[in-house]
Amino acid sequence: MHDAFETTARIAGIGTYLPERVLENADLERMVETSDEWIRTRTGIRERHVVAEGEALVDLVERAGKAAMADAGVAPGEIDLFLLATATLEQPIPASSAIAQPRLGVVNAACLDVSAACSGFVFALNVARQFIATGEAKNVLVIGAECLTRFTDWTDRTTCVLFGDGAGAVVLQPAPAGDGILRCAWKTDGTYADLISMPGGGCRIPPWDREAIEQRLPFIKMRGNEVFKVAVRALTEISAQVMDEAGITVDDLALFVPHQANLRIITAVGSRLKIPEDKVFTNVQWVGNTSAASIPLALGQAVEQGRIRRGDLVLSSAFGGGFTWASVLFRY
Ligand code: UT7
Repeated sequence: MHDAFETTARIAGIGTYLPERVLENADLERMVETSDEWIRTRTGIRERHVVAEGEALVDLVERAGKAAMADAGVAPGEIDLFLLATATLEQPIPASSAIAQPRLGVVNAACLDVSAACSGFVFALNVARQFIATGEAKNVLVIGAECLTRFTDWTDRTTCVLFGDGAGAVVLQPAPAGDGILRCAWKTDGTYADLISMPGGGCRIPPWDREAIEQRLPFIKMRGNEVFKVAVRALTEISAQVMDEAGITVDDLALFVPHQANLRIITAVGSRLKIPEDKVFTNVQWVGNTSAASIPLALGQAVEQGRIRRGDLVLSSAFGGGFTWASVLFRY
């Protein structure tokens, strides 16, 4: 079963960017009460990339976005819609996509930030696909980028070992149904909003509230263990749903490229879906959890490594704050 639309969106080009600075588990051992062994066995993470002083979200967005447009052979002026999935804004006003626009040169694009935490990139793909399917847009730039380490509480060992910075971008163009994106599903359950959150820095607890800063409220908080259980169930269900709706089985898949939060989550989901290990892509070991950047970064690296080739069927599924979760099945 395909969409009702005759036209869908295909990935015409892809690009990634990781900041140069690498933070290893050994570095974290010197900052908080943790160990390389604990981090590796509980998360799979060995190292992550961290922005340099003076570097921020839009710098990552520019590098990944330009690489994707070059890969697609599309001039920046041809982009008519630019969606930026991020949870770590350059600044609250204006939209980070608007700030990035002149740097990318996408002067003819309407620019929109998409806020769905770790599911943001897949949410943005789903939005972009609709505009392409209806003929409203011809060249859409979708970027997932995060500067999570700026909002990481480096005194909280339960979160600071997890996150990394980075960006991944794709250019989407029209394709006939059956090619490109075949199915996409997305879900939100806001009753879990407190489980992954940054309670300070918005209008309820403004960024200038000194007491809130002392209580470390403008930093990312996560009740990891509770998130873990829901994440495994939700990722498994939505991935199975999308394959089912498209009438395909895991045998048809070339690669499963899930959100990279924790190797144990990825392994659990892969085995529940009965996807052989060699068809599951992981890079969480080297980049940590990069939230909205996670899937486009992983897709870009998988293409670079020759693990995804043109014509391959790929499934990507994400889970994150909100809770939000989403899955996309596409022919590359
Ligand atoms: O990307 C968005 C979605 N996010 C996720 O999917 C993340 C989901 N959650 C996780 O990945 C895991 O829950 C974590 C990696 C965050 C934590 O792993 P866990 O196996 O669930 O550990 P836990 O939270 O149950 O903690 C176990 C123990 C605790 O000690 P006690 O209470 O048993 O004495 C923690 O205090 O590990 C302790 N601990 C640590 N020890 C050393 C927590 N963090 C650390 C640490 N180093 N960094």
